[in-house]
Amino acid sequence: MAILFRPFLPIDKTHWIPLLQQELKDLDFRVWPNIGDPADITYYMGWEVFEGDIDAYPNLHAFLSLRAGVERFIGNPNFPRNAKLIRMIDPGLTESMVEYVISYVMRFHREHDKMPEYLEPPWGRLLPKRAGATSVGLMGMGHIGQSCAQKLVSLGFHVQGWSQSKKNIDGVKSFAGHSELDTFLSSTDILVCILPLTPQTSGILNKDLFYKLPKGAAIINVARGKHLIEEDLVSAIQDGQIGVAALDVFRKEPLPKDHPFQNIDLILTTPHIAGITSPDTAVPVMRKTITDIESGHLPDGLVDIEKGY
Ligand code: GLV
Repeated sequence: MAILFRPFLPIDKTHWIPLLQQELKDLDFRVWPNIGDPADITYYMGWEVFEGDIDAYPNLHAFLSLRAGVERFIGNPNFPRNAKLIRMIDPGLTESMVEYVISYVMRFHREHDKMPEYLEPPWGRLLPKRAGATSVGLMGMGHIGQSCAQKLVSLGFHVQGWSQSKKNIDGVKSFAGHSELDTFLSSTDILVCILPLTPQTSGILNKDLFYKLPKGAAIINVARGKHLIEEDLVSAIQDGQIGVAALDVFRKEPLPKDHPFQNIDLILTTPHIAGITSPDTAVPVMRKTITDIESGHLPDGLVDIEKGY
């Protein structure tokens, strides 16, 4: 058994490799391109797969993705043949995603972006809304969605989730499947997209969906740029159907300088930074994945290729 890590990002050399070397020092851990005999490699860790990977490692059991979203690996012609795909379920990444979502939910709930209008006299025109008066609808109730839901419940929000199958989470109203989508949307003030990107969810944030939300609803997208039809959001913002949006992901990243989102005050953008896998919390997860597979157990994060997550 040998584990191969293939670096891709600048943080790999500074953060990932030293920690992996330390935490996996009792195992045969190798860093590409020093792979030794390719037939030894049974686990492969990384952010990407590369040309030739399809049959480079004849005894590979699993590819451990450093990313939570795995759509780039599914159907990828370079993905190692016969290897299991494991997506990253990192408590550190989840914590960052939850923080990001909460930060914008609070900003939209308390209408910070409307406050400049109220700075003018007369004062005393507003009563602050309390959390229970705002309904937050989470699209996607996987690991990250459920963690957001629990935090929002603890803050007193009305919380509802929409997913493929019903979920039983204390204090969270669960909607499932296509037939319940419209009811879910009609009672959502702040919509948060945390869906996996699949052929079914691609483009789901579109004109049709926007007009099923109450007028002035807010959108937060922390999933993938391809969930959103960007021009539909621009028109929905322009006619006030969508009140405000926070987007961390885009069809083209980095967001081009001349992109229309750059000039719309009610579309708030951040550079795909809501959450990133953090080595200190993720390395123990990766180690457990290997232990689970070695002892014949199904590891957490095993991707169902048919479902796409
Ligand atoms: C980030 O977007 C990830 O997929 O981990």
